[in-house]
Amino acid sequence: MTRPKKSLLVLGGTSDIGRATALAHAENGWTVALAGRDEAALAREAADIATRTGTPVPVHGFDVLETASFAAFVDALPNLPDAVISVVGLLGDQSRAQSDLDHATLIMRSNYEGPSLILGLFAERFCARGSGTIIGVSSVAGDRGRASNYVYGSAKAGFTAFLSGLRNRCFKAGVHVVTVEPGFVRTRMTAGLPLPGPLTVDPRVAGEAILSANEKRKNTIYVSEKWRLVMAVIKSIPEGVFKRLSI
Ligand SMILES: NC(=O)c1ccc[n+]([C@@H]2O[C@H](COP(=O)([O-])OP(=O)(O)OC[C@H]3O[C@@H](n4cnc5c(N)ncnc54)[C@H](OP(=O)(O)O)[C@@H]3O)[C@@H](O)[C@H]2O)c1
Repeated sequence: MTRPKKSLLVLGGTSDIGRATALAHAENGWTVALAGRDEAALAREAADIATRTGTPVPVHGFDVLETASFAAFVDALPNLPDAVISVVGLLGDQSRAQSDLDHATLIMRSNYEGPSLILGLFAERFCARGSGTIIGVSSVAGDRGRASNYVYGSAKAGFTAFLSGLRNRCFKAGVHVVTVEPGFVRTRMTAGLPLPGPLTVDPRVAGEAILSANEKRKNTIYVSEKWRLVMAVIKSIPEGVFKRLSI
């Protein structure tokens, strides 16, 4: 008897990491659905994955800033998925965010408030069912605040802490939570940035690492293990020294 396919819903299906994650799952026997605010782009991604894997890929409109519509969004899904991932994020412009409070708010809401609230809502439904996996794509930027991106980094830190608490609370209900901490990934978000080659990976590597973390029920992964060491060093620097550095 063949096992029924497991299902994954990707929030942020137009992201480079989201697309790679969806494809990795679809190629490994999962059904996938994509959600996002750009439905034309989602439809193109869905058609591409469907052509490559022979499995239809539904799409759903979703804006992470529209928190008032989250419950209706979840209720309107034809099925509650086995797993849901939020890949939604916005790097923004740190120097602009220092004086433009609307821009700072947008970064905070896009990386912390929205992803936390929607995954928290899915967690409620998963706990009531007694199964499911929540996956949140956070960032190494949340491990320690740095001058160059602390508005984004602090939002990711909040998201990482939210996921940790959610994991702790949902464990007894049979619901698992995976935190993904990418370092540098070559995507639209980092296009034009001077990325250090040895510490940078392609989205495909991120997608495969996330598939593995999902299936093995890992707690927290660094997409590239090199980043676990890099962040251990960065976190160990005393604050009195750290504040003098430009990193
Ligand atoms: N690339 C890296 O080096 C890196 C490193 C650490 C962490 N990350 C994290 O990895 C995740 C994926 O990033 P990426 O590199 O793949 O960049 P990306 O291609 O720019 O993806 C960002 C995604 O967020 C979506 N999004 C932004 N605001 C939204 C909103 N209001 N409602 C719905 N969707 C919204 C975008 O949708 P649209 O297509 O509609 O804009 C896009 O799908 C992000 O959470 C990012 O912070 C990336």
